[in-house]
Amino acid sequence: MSVSETHPNQTVANQPKRFLTGVQTTGIPHLGNYVGAIRPAIQSTQNSDNEKDQSFFFLADYHSIIKCADPKQIHESTKAIAATWLACGLDPEKVVFYRQSDVPEIPELAWILNCSCAKGLMNRAHAYKAAVDVNLNNDVDADHNITMGLFGYPVLMAADILMFNATHVPVGRDQIQHVEMARDIAGTFNHKYKSLFTLPSAVVDDDMPLLTGLDGRKMSKSYNNIIPLFGEYNPQVDPEKQLRKAVMQIVTNSQAPEEPKNPDDSVIFEIYRAFATPSEIADLRAQFEAGIAWGDAKQILFEKINSEIAPFRDRYFELMANPKELEEILQAGGEKARRHSRRQLDKARRAIGIKPLAKLK
Ligand code: TRP
Repeated sequence: MSVSETHPNQTVANQPKRFLTGVQTTGIPHLGNYVGAIRPAIQSTQNSDNEKDQSFFFLADYHSIIKCADPKQIHESTKAIAATWLACGLDPEKVVFYRQSDVPEIPELAWILNCSCAKGLMNRAHAYKAAVDVNLNNDVDADHNITMGLFGYPVLMAADILMFNATHVPVGRDQIQHVEMARDIAGTFNHKYKSLFTLPSAVVDDDMPLLTGLDGRKMSKSYNNIIPLFGEYNPQVDPEKQLRKAVMQIVTNSQAPEEPKNPDDSVIFEIYRAFATPSEIADLRAQFEAGIAWGDAKQILFEKINSEIAPFRDRYFELMANPKELEEILQAGGEKARRHSRRQLDKARRAIGIKPLAKLK
């Protein structure tokens, strides 16, 4: 695996690292999320070479309301994502696992950081610029339907990161700019007041597979082309059958069963690569070249995914049926997070001159 950091020189050998990353709560986890974010994050906590490394993983529910105004979806998604991370092996004793909204110091810090963030910096954010471009192309006002939430998104994200003095922020490539902005805002604050915030570095997995969805476009909830990790939450339908059905829906070309097929042009092969060992991959490649039928290739893919996911299923459905247990885990995580955030917010407030006028007995 090859991983790159945006500011590698800053990592001091043997110095403990603090990893932090967030996930928005707007959808039900799919294979793309699993391969790209969930599995590597959990593995990194299991394989860390320094005992003093710490990891913070959180559900970015305040971020999710920027895009999604469906309260039911936010609520369901929070539950499904929490259950997924735990079922896939995240150990809430080893990492700090919490909901952003359970740490009220984060939006408080976001306000303070707003005052150390140039508006021009936010004007350059990709997500905001893309929304403006859509408006201009549609001949409507540049700011049509753009909220302050979208505009200030990177400031809230900076608060998420700087609150815990994260050193390493594992993200997808599309989020690098946001981590750089957090760094920028931290630098401004540190310079204006005092050196309080650690400058974070984005960590990007260069071979992070961006999975293709059922229809050939990038796998994404917004394209409605996902393969759900655990199936829809419906105790009536066997989740294994749901997975098989989704895999069978992957779009293929019309090549006949005996024709040799190009593995590098196939969604089936691409997803297989994200789950199989090198020798299994080489084997399937040979079968493609020998003219495997699409149906058989899908069956092999289904079995491969299923063998990795099946052991997590019981725990997932158990947690989904038992939200009390989830709530307890998240609240305990929130408490741990707040042990850090209370202190950090207090320092930030003191730095800007907001502190008690006198000590009362
Ligand atoms: N913006 C991230 C995303 O959409 C989610 C996120 C919110 C995040 N706050 C964060 C990621 C802090 C890393 C660190 O994927």
